[in-house]
Parts: sequence; structure tokens; C-alpha cells
Amino acid sequence: MTVRPPCLLILGRHGQVGWELERCVVSLGAIVAVGAHGAPLSVNLADKAALRDLVRSVKPDWIFNAAAYTAVDRAEAEPDLAFAVNGEAPGVLAEEARRGGAVLVHYSTDYVFDGTANRPYVETDETRPLNVYGQTKLAGERAIQAVGGRYLIFRTTWIYGARGHNFLLTIQRLARERDELRIVSDQFAAPTWSRFLAQTTAHVVAVLERNPDRLEEVAGLYHVTNAGQTSWHGFAEAIVANMGQCQALGAKRVLPIATEDYPTPARRPKYSVFDNSKAEQTFGISRPTWEQALALCLAQQA
Ligand SMILES: NC(=O)c1ccc[n+]([C@@H]2O[C@H](COP(=O)([O-])OP(=O)(O)OC[C@H]3O[C@@H](n4cnc5c(N)ncnc54)[C@H](OP(=O)(O)O)[C@@H]3O)[C@@H](O)[C@H]2O)c1
Repeated sequence: MTVRPPCLLILGRHGQVGWELERCVVSLGAIVAVGAHGAPLSVNLADKAALRDLVRSVKPDWIFNAAAYTAVDRAEAEPDLAFAVNGEAPGVLAEEARRGGAVLVHYSTDYVFDGTANRPYVETDETRPLNVYGQTKLAGERAIQAVGGRYLIFRTTWIYGARGHNFLLTIQRLARERDELRIVSDQFAAPTWSRFLAQTTAHVVAVLERNPDRLEEVAGLYHVTNAGQTSWHGFAEAIVANMGQCQALGAKRVLPIATEDYPTPARRPKYSVFDNSKAEQTFGISRPTWEQALALCLAQQA
């Protein structure tokens, strides 16, 4: 008997998570990876008709939405575009997934929370976004949940990786240019490696491809991050310490500053550590600490 591999549609192929995902699911099915621009396939998530046409022509078994409007500060000035991409497009994908019998995998953010908790956030905790980006991402979660069907939403925190726009690459660049860095030390979460999130997604897909009957039961929202917690300052110190060791750059000073000393257009939660128990227990996920994941990512750069 021949087994047909599932068709996997990946949106956001040039993003941090999308790029890793295309590589991590490579043995799980036939991949159609789509970016915002360029060949062979592209789609603008703000164009609902084009998005529907794309899904109907590809006829995927799985849809991975790794595309998003992620410019957190710019979103304050472009709320309509951010809402179209983050708030509305996920609902269109959920409708098309249900129509075609596909599973939708979507990613969301800790910025749905206000950061006032005094213990790690669980999935059922009350949301209260502090900025436009968080509001639009929460709208996207709700649009998917309103359609229902077979979906997985992975909420995560502080994504970085060896490519793309992220804190790791920014700190490495600044540490080469300056002797002293001033980094916010009163916001806490778990830096999460884009590849860990992509590999975890691939693991979940493999589990559910073997046990399709579980899909209805496990559909829902999950918190998925690397383990542990730190501040942006702690994260920067770990990055710079590694540069000192590897590239003989000498000691750079990484000074802690308060959020108030680094004003940005968008407010950010001060605490967004996630409790990952639900994902761990449902899918048997093992999570490296953020320090272990960072070491693996840095080794890949070396
Ligand atoms: N980055 C974080 O720290 C973080 C934290 C928590 C959750 N998340 C969530 O995790 C997911 C993946 O994030 P990421 O860090 O991989 O994001 P990313 O690197 O910014 O990638 C997002 C991708 O979406 C594409 N995109 C933006 N607007 C689009 C549009 N209108 N139509 C089609 N594609 C569009 C971008 O295209 P271009 O290449 O043209 O820009 C980019 O390739 C997102 O859902 C994000 O909200 C991210």
C-alpha cells in the first residue's frame, strides 16, 4: 500500500520561524512554502481573497501560519494593517482549513498579557494587551477559536535565531560597535530559539500524523517556550560573554537600565514567563533551558 505524504503549506517562509519550519518538517510531507514577496509563490495576508485562493489551489492537509506583522512599535502607527494581517487573516485561514479538512497551526505572543502576574502564565489566564501588536495578535487567536475545528495555537516569547531581525543579532552587532551596552533589566521572559519552536511544531505534527484521532481532543491553545527565565539584560550578558570567549573581543560592559530609561512607542509587559505544562503533558515535549538553546544556536553560527 502506498501512503500519500501530507501536503504542508507554510506561510511566512522568510521569517525566523517560517524559515526554520520549512527545514524541520522536510521529512513529514510535501512542502509548499510561501513568502510575502518573490517566487515561486507569494501572498499578502492582508488580501483575504488572495489568501483564500492560495489555500484552495494548494489543498493542504496542514497550514502553518508563521507570517505576521511583527513590527511591535510600528504597529502603533499602522493599526489597520497590523489588524488585517494579525487579527483577520488567521480567521480566514481557520475557515479555509475547516472547509478543506486541514489542520491550522498558528503562532501567537506573550504580548497578549499585561505582565502583572507573579507566577508563570497558563493558557487560561486573563489577557490584557498593552499595545496594538498584542491586541491584533489576540484578535487573531479569537478569530481562529471562533471558527473552531482542528487548530493549534502556539503562544511563545522572545524569539531569536541565527537569521532574521532579532535581539541576538542586534546585540552581537552593537557589541562589535560599542564598548558599553545599556539594556533593559526589568522585563522578564524566556528567550526562545526559532529552531526549538520549529522542531517542537514538527514533533507535534509527527505525533498527530500517527494518531489523527487525537486531533479533535488536543486542538487548542498552548504555551511553548524554552525553559527558565531572564531579563533582556541577562540575555544580552549571555550573548556578549560568548562573544568575548569566541572572538577575543574583550570584556564589554552590559549595564542594566529600567524600562523607563528606554522609551518605545509600544508598552511591553514586564513579566511574561509561560507555564508550558499543558504542551509538555499533551505532546511529550522536552524543553531545553534558554541557556542551552542559546549555546546550540551560537555553536551553529561559529
Ligand atoms: N519575534 C518574536 O519575538 C515573537 C515572539 C512571540 C511570538 N511571535 C510570533 O511568532 C510568529 C513568527 O514570528 P517571527 O519572529 O518568525 O516573525 P518574522 O521573522 O518577523 O517573520 C514574519 C514573516 O511574516 C511575513 N509577513 C509580514 N507581513 C505579511 C503580509 N502582509 N503577508 C504575508 N507575509 C507577511 C514577513 O515577510 P517579510 O519577510 O517580507 O518581512 C516575514 O517573513 C508570529 O506569529 C509572531 O507574532 C514572535
